[in-house]
Amino acid sequence: MNEGPRAVRCQRVVTCDPARASAGDPLGSIADGAVVFDETTIRSVGPASDVPREVPVLDLGARVLTPGLVDAHTHAAWAGSRHAEYAVRMAGGDYEAILAAGGGILSSHRAIVQTAQGALADTLALRLTRMAALGVTTCEVKSGYGLLPHEELKQLRAIAAVTSRPGVPSVVPTLLALHALPLDARANREAYVRKAAEQLVPEVARARLAAYVDAYVDRNAFTVEEARRVGEAARAAGLGVRLHVGQFADVGGAELAAELGAASADHLENVSEVGIAALADARVHAVLLPIASLTLQQAPPPVAALRAAGVRLVVASDANPGTAPTESLPLALAIAVRLYGLTPDEAILGSTRVAASSLGLDDRGFLAPGQRADMVAWDLPHEHAIVQPWGTSRTSRVWCAGALVHSSG
Ligand code: NIG
Ligand code: FE
Repeated sequence: MNEGPRAVRCQRVVTCDPARASAGDPLGSIADGAVVFDETTIRSVGPASDVPREVPVLDLGARVLTPGLVDAHTHAAWAGSRHAEYAVRMAGGDYEAILAAGGGILSSHRAIVQTAQGALADTLALRLTRMAALGVTTCEVKSGYGLLPHEELKQLRAIAAVTSRPGVPSVVPTLLALHALPLDARANREAYVRKAAEQLVPEVARARLAAYVDAYVDRNAFTVEEARRVGEAARAAGLGVRLHVGQFADVGGAELAAELGAASADHLENVSEVGIAALADARVHAVLLPIASLTLQQAPPPVAALRAAGVRLVVASDANPGTAPTESLPLALAIAVRLYGLTPDEAILGSTRVAASSLGLDDRGFLAPGQRADMVAWDLPHEHAIVQPWGTSRTSRVWCAGALVHSSG
């Protein structure tokens, strides 16, 4: 694309720019504002009356413009379907027991084994395109259903293959190195963990197939000692760390995230005061996943204590076929406000600027000159209407790095 400067004008431009934020206006909004951008980058943000006369303006009238949403925790590269298991769980079946019996994550693993890399990439691209239509312009995508090294590599190569496709959000790939033990590794978990830490992590780093390494630290999952091995291997290979922590029990995952200098600790339904203090000291982001805890009928994480400790709060979809059967980050925001007590402003920052920060991306998440032109025009009267009403993502236009990836009137 080789376009000159153009502008989009809305009755409300919600910048999320810290330089514009104030106590009374934490999102730094501009009434009758406009963003001028060319090719991939924002050139100016301000009152519509400041746009130079020669710049063509797309006037979207009474709409709201926000930064593109950043979904910082997804398992979007999945295949198959877990609808049968869902019905069993809704009738009282237990998520962890289903996994122990060889279902759950292991059922998605079998679907990955049966899916060719190209077909997996096609499925992922379609899913990401639907997510873009809901307002997502950057999406973290984890592996973690391959489980065997060559299948994890296949999942990561499928993720890499979609990044250049048009209409797809920008993708941040994560190697979820420890998610579940394959059935035939149950007899020798030490060898499985060793291979993940000593072979898979370095190989993925060499091939530049992931920016982060993740591990599921929980009862019935992996221990702190096991996760530390892959976390240290990640750091040694120059990769960042994100951890699934305290979804079912507090086994010390938050403290491990702090020790490893992780970018994020995710879930946190079960975390101690000591763990929260460790996250705050180490500047680890908390990634809240309200759809997962709703689906599992769990109590929310201690959001007030995390907030009081100064831990930065991110909200993500956790999109996956088991605990978070959705592709909708806006739905996660609505539930974060309804069930977790986030303010609408916290939810919006937690899915824009703070979410980008958790992914180490300082070129997006707020609207300011020099930032990537990732923007959403919402057919809504106010940005708080993104979290209420629910379930209808009223995006009018979505731009990803200046390219229009979704338009619906
Ligand atoms: O974030 N619980 C760990 N991992 C995912 C769920 C994976 C699945 O059930 O497929 C989560 O909740
Ligand atoms: Fe997850």
